[in-house]
Amino acid sequence: MTLRAGMMPRAGVIGWPVGHSLSPRIHRFWLKELGLDGCYEAVVVPPDWLGDMVDSFRLGRWRGFNVTVPHKETIMPLLDRIDPAARAIGAVNTVVAVGDGIFEGRNTDAPGFMASLHAGAAIDPGRPAVVLGAGGASRAILAILNDAGFREIRLLNRDRVRAECLAASFPAIVGDWSDRNALLEGAGLLINATSLGMTGQPALEIDLARLPVTAVVTDIVYRPLMTDLLLKAQAHGNPVVDGLGMLLYQAVEGFAAWFGVRPAVTQALRAHVLVAMGA
Ligand code: ATR
Repeated sequence: MTLRAGMMPRAGVIGWPVGHSLSPRIHRFWLKELGLDGCYEAVVVPPDWLGDMVDSFRLGRWRGFNVTVPHKETIMPLLDRIDPAARAIGAVNTVVAVGDGIFEGRNTDAPGFMASLHAGAAIDPGRPAVVLGAGGASRAILAILNDAGFREIRLLNRDRVRAECLAASFPAIVGDWSDRNALLEGAGLLINATSLGMTGQPALEIDLARLPVTAVVTDIVYRPLMTDLLLKAQAHGNPVVDGLGMLLYQAVEGFAAWFGVRPAVTQALRAHVLVAMGA
């Protein structure tokens, strides 16, 4: 059935800026692949406009939208409901219209991260995980590692106080940033959740000599796709999972809720997104 444009299921992503977002490319790929009527738009929303934009999406009967920087936390009081996982993480990346004018905030970054890891490597929650970083991304990762039953999580951040604050919400052993090489001993998973290694940012300086070669290494940074950490880990013999998977898998739940069909993360989708990244 072809719907009139005005009735077309509508979703999108808000951010400030938002031009860099790969979400439109992901969702439009699925809409086309699945032959669904619907549209997905990137909308630039400066912080002062956030409340008015949420109201206008309600009035326009949007199915929902993704939320990116800098709105992931500030949007929470503007929504009608926050699901428990997003509440625990303290950030919303996906909003879903669950009833007439009711907007529910969810967080699909955390399950997206875990789905990407599982798709890319064999994960053993019985072995220690080392998490580098204590920002917003790290909060989502700690929540999902905890849900996945990881028994030992070592959390290291340049600003140790931030790590201590995070460890008050999620069980983790806080170590010193300067001890990061030694704290890799015996680990089964190493996660870079800092911005280090991203194009234009400083490098992540780390020596992997003490990391078991069986440990899975992953990076939330996906520009570049193969960060120095992943290249170094690969050369060391470790299985690696790049950061693009998290972006692709986090999109699945939102799409399913808005458009009623659960899409698949495939090599074709990945290739389509990589073209936009110039990778
Ligand atoms: P996000 O919400 O995306 O995680 P963020 O809150 O800005 O972003 O966090 C960025 C992370 O990268 C933090 O863990 C930050 O460490 P600090 O809390 O000490 O700032 C880390 N980071 C950024 N630049 C860094 C650097 N030069 N050295 C070490 N860590 C750095």
